[in-house]
Amino acid sequence: MASTVPMKTIAIAALFVVLSYVVGPPVQRTLTVFGYWRQPVPTPLADEDLVVIDDTTNCEDLHFHAASNTLFTACEDHLETRFAWFPPLSLFDDPAIVAKNRGSIHTIDPKTFKSTRLAFTNFDDPFVTHGIDVVSDPDRPDGEAVYVFAVNHLPNPDFLWDGAAAAAATAGVPKARSRIEVFHHVVGTKMAQHVRSIAHPLIRTPNDIAAVSHDAFYVTNDHYYRGGALRQVEDIVAAARWTDVVHVRIKNSTSRTATEGFDISVALPNVHNSNGISRGRSADEIVVSSCTSGVLNICQRSASRLKIVHSSVKADFVIDNPNYFADPYAGDGGDFSGFVLPGLSHAIDLGKTHTDPLASESIMVALARPLPGGEGAGQWETANTTDKWETRLLFEDDGSRIRSVSAAVLVAIDPRHEGGARKAWAFVTGFLSKNAIAVKINL
Ligand SMILES: *[C@@H]1O[C@H](CO)[C@@H](O)[C@H](O)[C@H]1NC(C)=O
Repeated sequence: MASTVPMKTIAIAALFVVLSYVVGPPVQRTLTVFGYWRQPVPTPLADEDLVVIDDTTNCEDLHFHAASNTLFTACEDHLETRFAWFPPLSLFDDPAIVAKNRGSIHTIDPKTFKSTRLAFTNFDDPFVTHGIDVVSDPDRPDGEAVYVFAVNHLPNPDFLWDGAAAAAATAGVPKARSRIEVFHHVVGTKMAQHVRSIAHPLIRTPNDIAAVSHDAFYVTNDHYYRGGALRQVEDIVAAARWTDVVHVRIKNSTSRTATEGFDISVALPNVHNSNGISRGRSADEIVVSSCTSGVLNICQRSASRLKIVHSSVKADFVIDNPNYFADPYAGDGGDFSGFVLPGLSHAIDLGKTHTDPLASESIMVALARPLPGGEGAGQWETANTTDKWETRLLFEDDGSRIRSVSAAVLVAIDPRHEGGARKAWAFVTGFLSKNAIAVKINL
């Protein structure tokens, strides 16, 4: 393994050099987004403004369910799993580890910063965690119960792992058979009850989920290629719009057969590296990040289909899972509602660091919103049709306080408790981080 790592890095660097001669300005942008020129500048924090959250190992995604004032995340829980088996990073070394180490859904109380692992009922399969989403159970008063949708990256039983000859015999067969799990959770309990699994050939390389109701959700496929050189091309070349978003409507919520009892269709084709997905500002808005382009695509829903309305929300780094922050204290002191964008600040290194338990990845978290003082200030519709967006850095780290980032959620602090200042706790999770953290930031 060790000897292949520098080779891969050299290959990526060589590809960059070649591309820089061929395509010019887009490459300038790509190098910026990958952090080629960037040195991390960790945001200074007082000791009391940093909380390391216990029992949050390798948690990818994070969502705030406002009605129950609860954060939800999905964590791998065992440090070694992620370095042995993680299809989203083309890591297929040890499929057997998933039977031994199992990930879980956690809740985090934003007041006490305490993480609670939910025990599964009705579910014995391995669970390799990635993106999730959470919606209220419509049959209960809001805040009492939720449905949690979660990606699960299982090994493919049709790939023959036993020795080189067997593997060669199944060479064209994907090594992962990823699927979606649906759980039901009654807030305040320590259980997540499995509702059903969903597997389909259109769900190929699932990354993140945006649920629009208890029985309908969107899921991104982040790559077309599961490995190899062309996968690197799709990471680097923004014109490689080879990924998509699919829509699933569950028809039979009690089906015990993963492949039956739902409708599925492509909701949005031809996206570059569709990665994070989230509900937006209104019921008909969904946002999808083109991760390695550093672009957040604002999409409009009509039935199951999505249409990109504009792609003018950008960051100068790769954008992982977005979250919409609805500022509950918007008023005279300003409205800080916007899209919280997390990403690696030096993604160019990920090819070499992601297999190294001792490495680290530097990170950035930004807030994208209409430009204050601009024509569109406070008016999303105006901002929608122009480039009048600002993407402002909220938090930066060199990887020592949090290793890697994949999601961030803002929980606003009542300005009366901060002498009128607008602040928030930013909860930050990392797909390679031993712990999630919460940091108090200025909005
Ligand atoms: C839903 O799934 C259950 C369990 O697999 C099955 O018994 C039932 O017949 C299905 N219902 C419909 C309407 O297909």
